[in-house]
Amino acid sequence: MKKIIYEQYGSVDVLHSVYMNKPIPNTNQILVKVKAVSINPIDWKIVMGEVKLMSGRKFPKSIGCDFSGTIESIGQNIQNFTVGDDVFGVINPFKEGALAEYVIVNEKQLAKKPDYLSFAQAAALPTVGLTALQALNTSGKSIKGKEILINGASGGVGMLAIQIAKSQGAIVTAVSSVKGHHLLKKWGSDFIIDYNKEDVAKINKQFDVIIELSAKLSFRQAKKIMKPESNYISVTPSLWNFVHSFSNNIISKKKYKILLMQSDTNSLNELANNILKGADIYISKTYPMSDFKEAYNSIIKHGALGKVVFSIPF
Ligand SMILES: NC(=O)c1ccc[n+]([C@@H]2O[C@H](COP(=O)([O-])OP(=O)(O)OC[C@H]3O[C@@H](n4cnc5c(N)ncnc54)[C@H](OP(=O)(O)O)[C@@H]3O)[C@@H](O)[C@H]2O)c1
Repeated sequence: MKKIIYEQYGSVDVLHSVYMNKPIPNTNQILVKVKAVSINPIDWKIVMGEVKLMSGRKFPKSIGCDFSGTIESIGQNIQNFTVGDDVFGVINPFKEGALAEYVIVNEKQLAKKPDYLSFAQAAALPTVGLTALQALNTSGKSIKGKEILINGASGGVGMLAIQIAKSQGAIVTAVSSVKGHHLLKKWGSDFIIDYNKEDVAKINKQFDVIIELSAKLSFRQAKKIMKPESNYISVTPSLWNFVHSFSNNIISKKKYKILLMQSDTNSLNELANNILKGADIYISKTYPMSDFKEAYNSIIKHGALGKVVFSIPF
């Protein structure tokens, strides 16, 4: 089978395609013939060595975490899936990679693909959908009527955060450059800001929840536009962020939370069959797997609207 791997950290140029034997699942594993893999920023952040603390120095590494496909074979202990099931899921990008013709997973990493989703849409969902949902659920309280700022709203997480927040009755202010504004509107945003024209940290408004997806609005800046009891949610963990959030949250009701997305079969099922049913899962571009360098380079340089997906095989 073909798989995209790399032997050192660096630019997209370190990625290359290899042929290897099709893996054989052990008694607790499932072999999935991959049909689609979506791109997430964490894919190229790992390749570029930006998160070495988590990704380590063991090579070769592979790339891609969100995938969909059809089960080709299963280990004898597998209870909830069978050969021929169409599935989607997410694997740990610090340990494995899905950009391959086949991927080996365990049961918890998978859910059955609902018929209403294409393979591309199912591969687009897991990481961004669960991140959006978990960010909005951080306080554990209803967000109905709450003012929510989504800073970095035209990419994958923003697309679903806007739609989930609106479906739960929140008032959404969404921020991106102007190229994504037609989508922010389509997804239901109440207010739209162009970060090139307006400094979001200086707007005359206060929020109950700020979901920071751009790594450009620090907690220190965001505090000025947070209500006295509110949450700022960062999705870019670092040692400094953890220390800062811990010390802040002891004394302040303006909470600084750091999200690390968690995934399992139940949450994937809930996401696809309930929370996101009827949502617009916008895929701005689909690449053949063979164009992996062009795809990653384009996203690194220009960003993406909604999601970008690989179709497999070559
Ligand atoms: N912690 C976790 O578990 C977890 C899970 C998933 C994702 N993440 C992280 O979450 C972030 C968002 O993920 P994603 O997939 O949605 O990324 P994405 O598709 O690349 O979207 C990034 C968004 O940020 C916007 N942006 C860029 N510069 C900005 C600025 N100065 N001010 C405001 N917005 C700006 C972009 O808009 P333009 O294109 O118009 O510039 C775009 O809307 C990434 O950093 C990713 O690594 C973390």
